[in-house]
Amino acid sequence: TKPVILDVDTGVDDALALMLAVAHPRLDLRAVTCVGGNVPLDQVVENTLGILKLMGADAVPVAAGMSAPLLEPPQHADDFHGRNGIADVVLAPHGLEPTREHAVELLRRTIEHSGEPLTLVTLAPMTNIAVLLRMYPEVLRNVERIVCMGGAIGLGNATAAAEFNIFHDPEAAEVVFRSGVPITMYGLEPFYRVAVDESTITRLIDSHAPVAQVAGRLLQHSARMGGDDERIPAEAAACIGDAGAVCAVIDPDALVTRAAPVQVVLDGTVARGQTLVDFRTGPEPERPVGIQRGLVDVVFDVDGARYRRLFLETL
Ligand code: BDR
Ligand code: CA
Repeated sequence: TKPVILDVDTGVDDALALMLAVAHPRLDLRAVTCVGGNVPLDQVVENTLGILKLMGADAVPVAAGMSAPLLEPPQHADDFHGRNGIADVVLAPHGLEPTREHAVELLRRTIEHSGEPLTLVTLAPMTNIAVLLRMYPEVLRNVERIVCMGGAIGLGNATAAAEFNIFHDPEAAEVVFRSGVPITMYGLEPFYRVAVDESTITRLIDSHAPVAQVAGRLLQHSARMGGDDERIPAEAAACIGDAGAVCAVIDPDALVTRAAPVQVVLDGTVARGQTLVDFRTGPEPERPVGIQRGLVDVVFDVDGARYRRLFLETL
């Protein structure tokens, strides 16, 4: 099994991602850290604990982290995710508590104490991760890779230029991209491509399994809110979003990636939060000057049917 930590802003599709991470036998979910993003931090923690309870994963430690981005005030997306962030689905009372330690401390401790290098899956603005890298840069020695849902090669979603997770905290994202840790950028191109159709959603909702029912209702909400996005395949109704980034850890062979420098646009212009992916080739391509940055494995295509099967069969 692969040891992983999920950093989340639960969120409809973060909830789907948590379900998959708990349920898949190849993953060992060591901790979940919460950050303000889709909804305010308290609600993120509440939703995360509720989903873990539903999955019978009471023992996975959950910590609250940064409630606001490094520089700017939060700009939540509850208009998309429903008032409670999870499509207004009411989960059974969970009776669980987050850890007393801050998410950054839980991250440090979990990474340091792991016998083998850990994979960090970030499904949210990267505020917690940036603070971790500034406070405890030495933990990177025991991080195998960051698989990050964030950014886009082309069109954004929060703005025309920027994907929400990067848009919400561009400075944090740039800290992570400059860190030199191996990164897979699972951006909006694969994000929208892994999707389910209407009849699958109905089948999930009508099933007698509580986990499948909740997944179905979350997907139904996504279908209502964003099903007409042209990036979702024509025959499908809703994408599994963040859950695809968890698939990317389980089955990386279904990804088509290319290594390139990625620079986050930080100017306060219309392009703030854009991930500028430099796919230019040639003997000496001009690279952003003055900054040490590693190459990011940018996902530009994915076998959507394979990840859909992986998701549905696991749940
Ligand atoms: C990302 O932002 C949130 O709305 C989703 O949970 C996902 O992490 C997509 O831009
Ligand atoms: Ca998210």
